[in-house]
Amino acid sequence: MKPLVSASDAANSTEPAAAPGQALVIRGGRPLTGRVDVKGAKNLATKAMVAALLGESESVLRDVPEISDVNVVRSLLEVHGVRVDDEGDGVLRLDPSGAVSAHMEEIDAHAGASRIPILFCGPLLHLLGEAFIPDLGGCRIGDRPIDFHLDALRSFGAVVEKLPSGIRLSAPEGGLTGANIELPYPSVGATEQVLLTAVRAKGTTELRNAAIEPEIMDLIAVLQKMGAIISYEPNRVIFIEGVDRLEGYDHRCIFDRNEAASWACAALATDGDIFVAGAKQQEMLTFLNVYRKAGGSFDIQEDGIRFRRGEALKPVVVETDVHPGFMTDWQQPLIVALTQAAGTSVVHETVYENRLGFTQALNKMGADIVVHPHGFASPERRVPRRELEQAAVINGPTPLHGADVVVPDLRGGYSYVIAALAAEGESIVRNIGIIRRGYEKILDKLTALGADFDVLG
Ligand code: EPU
Repeated sequence: MKPLVSASDAANSTEPAAAPGQALVIRGGRPLTGRVDVKGAKNLATKAMVAALLGESESVLRDVPEISDVNVVRSLLEVHGVRVDDEGDGVLRLDPSGAVSAHMEEIDAHAGASRIPILFCGPLLHLLGEAFIPDLGGCRIGDRPIDFHLDALRSFGAVVEKLPSGIRLSAPEGGLTGANIELPYPSVGATEQVLLTAVRAKGTTELRNAAIEPEIMDLIAVLQKMGAIISYEPNRVIFIEGVDRLEGYDHRCIFDRNEAASWACAALATDGDIFVAGAKQQEMLTFLNVYRKAGGSFDIQEDGIRFRRGEALKPVVVETDVHPGFMTDWQQPLIVALTQAAGTSVVHETVYENRLGFTQALNKMGADIVVHPHGFASPERRVPRRELEQAAVINGPTPLHGADVVVPDLRGGYSYVIAALAAEGESIVRNIGIIRRGYEKILDKLTALGADFDVLG
C-alpha cells in the first residue's frame, strides 16, 4: 500500500513516522500556545472515500487529513480494484472503474483496527452482488456491535451469512430494493450504511431515528453531488429515492470538529492559548457552550477559533449524546481540563459503555476521578441505552504529576498527551501510533505549540 504522504512530502515533514509501539517522553508544566490547522474530518473523509465506489466516473476529495484511518480505507479501496492517486496537499483522486471483489483475508489484512469495511457492503452489493466483512476493530471503547448495520442490509433484501472467518453478504436476484427502516438508536455508522445502500436501491427508502451529525449531512452533500436524491425532515427522518446511476464527485471535506475540540481542551488544560485554523462555530455550538461554562474563552474569527482560559476553571455537568448533543468524542479531552476546575464535575457517558476507562491513568497522574459503572440513569432519559451508561465524577483541582501511561484508544490517547503536558515533571505516553488514526501531524503540531517532548522507539 502506498502511504497517503508521498516520500517527497514525508522528506519535507519534520514529523517522524510513528509505529504503534512508539512512546513520547513529555516534560510538562508549560502552556501550549500558537496556531494549529485542522483539515477535513476523519469521520467524513473515510466515508466519502467509500462513496466513490458508487460512482461511474472519478471522484476528487479535498482536504483529506494525513491520518492512518484514511490510509486503511485507501488500501481497502485498492484491494477492491479502485485506483487512488494522492495529488498532494490533501487531494485524493479515486477511480472506481476497475472495482472487483476482494478475498476476506485480503480485506482482513488491510482493515487493521478499522470498522470501515462494514460500510463497503452496500456499494459492493450494488456493484458486484456480494461483500465480505472480517471481524471489525476500531477503538476499544465498548462492544461496538454491527447488528443495526446487518438488520438494515437485510431490509434491503441482502442475504447475510455468518462464516467462521467473518460475514458474507449477497444481493438477491434483481438487486437491492428500498426499505422502511427505523434504527433502534441514531447510530452514525448505521445511518451511513443506509445512505450508501439506499442511493442505488430500487425505489424509495425511509429512514427513521437517523443520526444527523454534521458529517452525515456532508456525506448527504457528497451523494447529492453524485446524483442521489435525498431529503430530510427535522425529526430524524431521511428519505432516499434510489437512482440507476451515480457519477463521481468533487468535494471538500467538512472540518474535523473533534480535532478542533481536542485542541480547545488542550488550551484549557495547559492554560494555553491556541488558534485553531479551520474550526467553525456552527458545528461546535454545543461544545462552545460547555467550554464557556467550564471557564474557557473563545474568539470566533473568519478563518478559525481562538481558545484559551477566560477565568478560573469551573466544574460542569455534561451528558454525552448524539448530535446536536455533546459528542462522546469530546468528553475525554474535556475531562483532563476538568481535573483543574475548582469543584466537582460530572461527565455522563451515554454513547459507549467503556469510554471512561481512560480515567484510571489520569488518577495515576494525580487526578481524583471516580467512575460510576451504571451512570445516573433516569427512566425518562431519551434513548433506551441505560444499561450502557457510565458517569465520571471529577473532583478538582488536583495538580497533575508525570506518570508512565499506555494509550488505550484514539481520544483517550490524545487526552493522555495533554494531561502529560499539563502535569509537572516527566511522563511517558506509550503506544502513540493509535493517536495517528485520527490526529494529523500531531507531533509537528505539538512542536509548533511549544510542547517539550522526545520520541522513543
Ligand atoms: N451500535 C449498536 N449496533 C450497531 C451500531 C452501533 O449497538 O450496529 C451502538 C454502538 O455500540 C454505540 C452506539 O450505537 O454504543 C453509537 O455507535 P455509532 O454507530 O453511532 O458509532 P460509529 O459509527 O461506530 C462513529 C465515529 C466515532 C464516534 C461515534 C459517535 C466513525 C469512524 N466513528 O462511530 O468516532 O464516537 O460515531 O459519534 O465515524 C472516534 O473518532 O474516535 C470515534 C470513535
